[in-house]
Amino acid sequence: MENGRSFQPPPKRPRHDLPPTMSIRGPIPNGPMHPRPLIALLDGRDCSVEMPILKDVATVAFCDAQSTSEIHEKVLNEAVGALMWHSITLTKEDLEKFKSLRVIVRIGSGFDNVDVKAAGEFGIAVCNVPGYGVEEVADSTICLILNLYRRTYWLANMIREGKKVSGPESLREAAAGSARIRGDTLGIVGLGRVGQAVALRAKVFGFNVIFYDPYLPDGVEKSLGITRVYTLQDLLFQSDCVTLHCNLNEHNHHLINDYTIKQMRPGAFLVNTARGGLVDEHALAAALKDGRVRASALDVHENEPFVLASSPLKDCPNLICTPHSSFYSEQSLTELREMAAGEIRRAVVGRIPDSLRNCVNKEYFPTKAPTGMRYAFTGYQDGMNGGPFPYPNPAAAVGALGGVHSTTPHDHPQPPVSHSNHQSAPHSTEPGNHMAKEGSDVH
Ligand SMILES: NC(=O)c1ccc[n+]([C@@H]2O[C@H](COP(=O)([O-])OP(=O)(O)OC[C@H]3O[C@@H](n4cnc5c(N)ncnc54)[C@H](O)[C@@H]3O)[C@@H](O)[C@H]2O)c1
Repeated sequence: MENGRSFQPPPKRPRHDLPPTMSIRGPIPNGPMHPRPLIALLDGRDCSVEMPILKDVATVAFCDAQSTSEIHEKVLNEAVGALMWHSITLTKEDLEKFKSLRVIVRIGSGFDNVDVKAAGEFGIAVCNVPGYGVEEVADSTICLILNLYRRTYWLANMIREGKKVSGPESLREAAAGSARIRGDTLGIVGLGRVGQAVALRAKVFGFNVIFYDPYLPDGVEKSLGITRVYTLQDLLFQSDCVTLHCNLNEHNHHLINDYTIKQMRPGAFLVNTARGGLVDEHALAAALKDGRVRASALDVHENEPFVLASSPLKDCPNLICTPHSSFYSEQSLTELREMAAGEIRRAVVGRIPDSLRNCVNKEYFPTKAPTGMRYAFTGYQDGMNGGPFPYPNPAAAVGALGGVHSTTPHDHPQPPVSHSNHQSAPHSTEPGNHMAKEGSDVH
């Protein structure tokens, strides 16, 4: 006590030994004193692209499962990382079954098949690969829009089926409905990566482009030279063609339904290459049948794999369906898999979530370390510097990885492994759990 004032201790200095964002499960043990961490591809078999990127830091397994009930106990108990396509869903109950999981990487950009909040609360980072196929999806979208306007798909099928088109009257009948694009309004719902790429392309075809995206700050419309509207209703009311590019989330399931279809211009087109859950297919089928929607092109569906015969859309003639293939090109697929494996690698050799590039659930991570949790591990440097894996040839990749600081007992340059070694047919060593080890085939 001095001059009657109480002594105030200085504020506590922040601790430097804790990472800024903490994972409840801590970093992946991956030093010389630990066995190689287990990474599992949950819903696929082919690990030929991922193996060269991961083989010096992890053991890779594939499960080829459609649900967690098909995943072997060893993977449920020991896998620290999971790679997943879109054919398996991980709910909170599914996530609970994984005892050691620290990171999930979606081989794709949408992550609506993982409960990212529950994962975050369990201390499991969820990552996606956001940019791999933006151009392909945008090009496919434009292709579908052009088909709706120019009717190329139906005209080509007509010729294949043997129809003879002779003279102007017959052509007029065959090509009825083909429309001019210039001056029509294209309404983009969701102006993210794909939405913007579609906007740029659509302008060149003469569309008047408008968009609705309530999550973007003002100004993006100026950069792209397009028009912003501030309600979905406004967009639907103004658009001759509506194209969906928003991510599916808890707020926009069945964004296009009977009610919102009534807000569309009568006879407008609808395109969806985003997510099937955005469209109520029963409502769309009714609208296609009575002409309120003139024609529609859907790459994504409420139930996938899509079977037209068992869908509410089965009797709609003015419909083009593709099998969730918009993203696909050989290049984008390889890029996607390399980027997904690169993210898993960063998780193994670095710190979760700070070393991750595309973690989508950081906000759900617990902010306090549980009592007794130790954070002695500080992570290793990733020699790839966080980039997508730059080597298309696995043999070259393995050679290059040899120079990277390895975190396994084999801490020395790896000899190049032949291409065929990684691409031979996978085989099982245990029922339902296929393990792939360094230098061996993908088992
Ligand atoms: N068909 C395919 O092969 C394929 C491939 C890749 C991505 N996709 C899908 O395409 C969509 C777009 O991908 P992206 O990479 O551009 O995503 P992105 O995250 O970059 O963009 C999505 C945009 O949608 C906006 N949005 C979210 N909810 C909205 C709502 N209710 N109304 C309007 N806007 C809303 C967001 O603000 C964001 O700007 C996603 O659904 C993704 O899953 C499909």
